Amino acid sequence: MERERWGTKIGLILALAGNAVGLGNFLRFPVQAAGNGGGAFMIPYFIALILVGIPLMWTELSMGRFGGHRGHGTMPGIFQLLWRHPVAKYLGVLGLLLPITVFIYYLVVESWTLGFSFFSLVGKYNGATTQEAMGGFLRGYQGIARNDYFNGMYWAYFFFIATAAINYIVLRRGIRGGIEKLANIGMPLLIVMAIALVVRVLSLGTPDPSKPDQSVLNGLGFIWNPDFGALRNPKVWLAAAGQIFFTLSVGFGAIQAYSSYLRKDDDVALSGIATVSTNEFCEVICGGTIAIPIACAFFGIAATQTIAQGSSFNLAFQSMPIVFQHLPLGNIFGFMWFFLLFIAGVTSSVALTLPAVTFFMDELGWTRKKAVNVISIFTFAASNLVIFFLVHGFMDELDFWAGTFGVVLLAFIEIVVFFWVFGKDKAWEEITRGAEIKVPSIFKFIMKYVTPLFLVAILATWAKSDLIKVLRMDAVSPENRPYVWGARALMLAIIAGFTILVAIASRRGGLSKERNVI
Ligand code: PHE
Repeated sequence: MERERWGTKIGLILALAGNAVGLGNFLRFPVQAAGNGGGAFMIPYFIALILVGIPLMWTELSMGRFGGHRGHGTMPGIFQLLWRHPVAKYLGVLGLLLPITVFIYYLVVESWTLGFSFFSLVGKYNGATTQEAMGGFLRGYQGIARNDYFNGMYWAYFFFIATAAINYIVLRRGIRGGIEKLANIGMPLLIVMAIALVVRVLSLGTPDPSKPDQSVLNGLGFIWNPDFGALRNPKVWLAAAGQIFFTLSVGFGAIQAYSSYLRKDDDVALSGIATVSTNEFCEVICGGTIAIPIACAFFGIAATQTIAQGSSFNLAFQSMPIVFQHLPLGNIFGFMWFFLLFIAGVTSSVALTLPAVTFFMDELGWTRKKAVNVISIFTFAASNLVIFFLVHGFMDELDFWAGTFGVVLLAFIEIVVFFWVFGKDKAWEEITRGAEIKVPSIFKFIMKYVTPLFLVAILATWAKSDLIKVLRMDAVSPENRPYVWGARALMLAIIAGFTILVAIASRRGGLSKERNVI
């Protein structure tokens, strides 16, 4: 059967940018930067971008294109092609586990952004002008508390179903008619809304003249003034590298699924840089300008610090609505903020599901319809655990193993398989074939030696300081431990499921066959 293809070059770049630009850019980045040395955070951040981010983006794009035109668009098949060893395909299970695990909780947060877009438009949170009141609104919505705003989870569940349905429809329509079309409409809209919000924030000045300290300028200073002392702390380096992985979507196996729908000689070098640049614009310029500076202007620096220390979600869902209520046309700006998050969310969440869908289609020969149905039913059920066990740390556990630890591990395996096992000259040929820019040859050296060393250093430092503590759940309260075990059991079940499917696919001879796709 002919493999589906991206329609246009710009469509592909928008789809890749949509994949990368997500909740990570607008919610995770500002909180990470503010909490890890402010402007100084940008030093390890840019070092990680050059030494891991860009190398992995090119590696993953070319791996996916390599596998795709041989009929295998996901990690089990790609590893098997690159490294003819019986364990290779099983290492690839990571490339299915990680994106699905992230999807299971990402979908839930994405549904909150849809809900809050609606509440902004209709003014449902109007009047909740203090942190306590807005905190109550958020907890009421999430079903953690019953109060004047919500007496049950009906709204939350309704928006959850709507969000799942939108994801389902896009995936069912496939690459060109679904994901690419969504990105063609969504990404320009997202950029316009992001710029409008940036301009609005920058023009705020000092909203309350009696409190001259609370200004946008001081807010920008808060996020950007460097605290170089922070660079001595290994945690800051880990946080910077972790943010690069999450924001660029590298280390998940998700970029490969996208590029597996390229043609053999399509460019990946320029597309990779275009994706990275768009993502960094949305992250550093837009993500760094909106939430934190505006919160500083209205609440002051000390309060913003406390809010940001809580979780990235408090800032977005609890504090931003209060801020918008102080602005003329606040409901419209509130809607823009949450809808911007929603678009950033959907164009990323479809990328989190695509590896599993592609795996079923490529390796088990399922139709798109069957693959999307099965994945959607499974993830819908699993996301319910996140919704109902929210306060018990279920989401954090999934996020930690898949979004922080797993990605570094998979990235390391990928780069070693590509540059050491498959071979650096062949790998370099894959990256530069069809390239519309000249890839600086220093990257050949970086990718073979520096990237893997950097990744090992991250894994080793982390394992030394934290592995045992995390495994023992030192930071988890005793009553939450059963739930955290539940989250781990869910991930183990996903690993077991995919491992069995990989074994079945391989018994049937599918995985090792090179299908020459046109
Ligand atoms: N990059 C996305 C974000 O910043 C998250 C993501 C990771 C999406 C992996 C797809 C695959 O939110």
